[in-house]
Amino acid sequence: MTFLFNSDARRGAIFAEAFARDLPDVPFSMDASSVDADAVRYLITWTVPKDLGRYRNLEILFSIGAGVDQLNLETIPAHVKVVRMVEEGIVRMMQEYVALAVLALHRNLPSYLAQQRAGTWSAIPQVQAAERRVGVLGLGLLGQAVLERLRPFGFPLAGWSRSPREIEGVACHHGDTGLKTLASKTDILVCLLPLTRETRGFLNAELFSILPVGAALVHTGRGPQLDHEALLSALDSGHLSGAVVDVTDPEPLTEGHPFWSHPSIVLTPHVASVTQPATAVRAVIEGIRRHRTGLDPIGLVDRERGY
Ligand code: NAP
Ligand code: GLV
Repeated sequence: MTFLFNSDARRGAIFAEAFARDLPDVPFSMDASSVDADAVRYLITWTVPKDLGRYRNLEILFSIGAGVDQLNLETIPAHVKVVRMVEEGIVRMMQEYVALAVLALHRNLPSYLAQQRAGTWSAIPQVQAAERRVGVLGLGLLGQAVLERLRPFGFPLAGWSRSPREIEGVACHHGDTGLKTLASKTDILVCLLPLTRETRGFLNAELFSILPVGAALVHTGRGPQLDHEALLSALDSGHLSGAVVDVTDPEPLTEGHPFWSHPSIVLTPHVASVTQPATAVRAVIEGIRRHRTGLDPIGLVDRERGY
């Protein structure tokens, strides 16, 4: 029963060491060309390999990342469990990034950077945290972790999910009506939704029009959720005041795309959160242990929902 690692060698070396130490009865391979395909029970990968059918005895396909939209689920046999990455490194980095972005927007950093470039020394009236409402789309692992990290700053917090949730100190909303309520009371909107049929193109003109004038966006979900034209026109009309965008479609953006130089957009190259091998391998080994005792691994993907 081999574990096949299909990613970069640097992370692979860390995985190999942990498997040898903590799960020595599961042989570890980083070489798909020499592995005995029938022995492969577990695979970790970012995208589905073209020759997935070779691994006839595959039981679990682990995603290297938290998102699974890059995996074409229809190409994975129904009996194979698909598991997204649930590990503390991803969570910590997302907490850092969203805190950085929310604080940057709250404290007008994009405007001050523009002023610096223009040689302008001028204070912008500062709204206090207690009056800056932060709304998070997606109340899963990352959405909840981010809300936890933002709590000490004193922002009024709200969140939105598909099913009803209860989180202390967070106004939780769900469904279509809940979305309108959340959006109409949100000054900084954070997107941490998975990319599914329902969330593609979700950050669009209609949603932006419900946000209060002067609201801002932090987009750390997936690129195809954001309508670029809608964001640009909301910013250019002054309806929105700024955006921190980590994910785009395509990635990277094409040369000359307006996001590269827009004064109200802070753009980062899909780095909000990156799987950390030392902690990820612990999660994967735990997932295999659970599976072997008949339990579902943490992070099991519901194929119907798509996340
Ligand atoms: P998760 O635990 O699966 O949580 C997803 C949340 O989104 C859940 O609260 C879910 O609602 C909600 N949701 C899904 N579809 C919805 C819909 N149609 N309407 C309303 N709510 C919906 O996922 P996660 O681990 O927090 O990760 C979220 C996403 O972050 C990933 O899928 C990935 O795209 C993105 N991500 C980005 C980076 C980066 O570097 N930029 C890094 C890691 C992850 P329920 O609670 O009702 O199920
Ligand atoms: C990164 O975007 C991830 O899904 O982990």
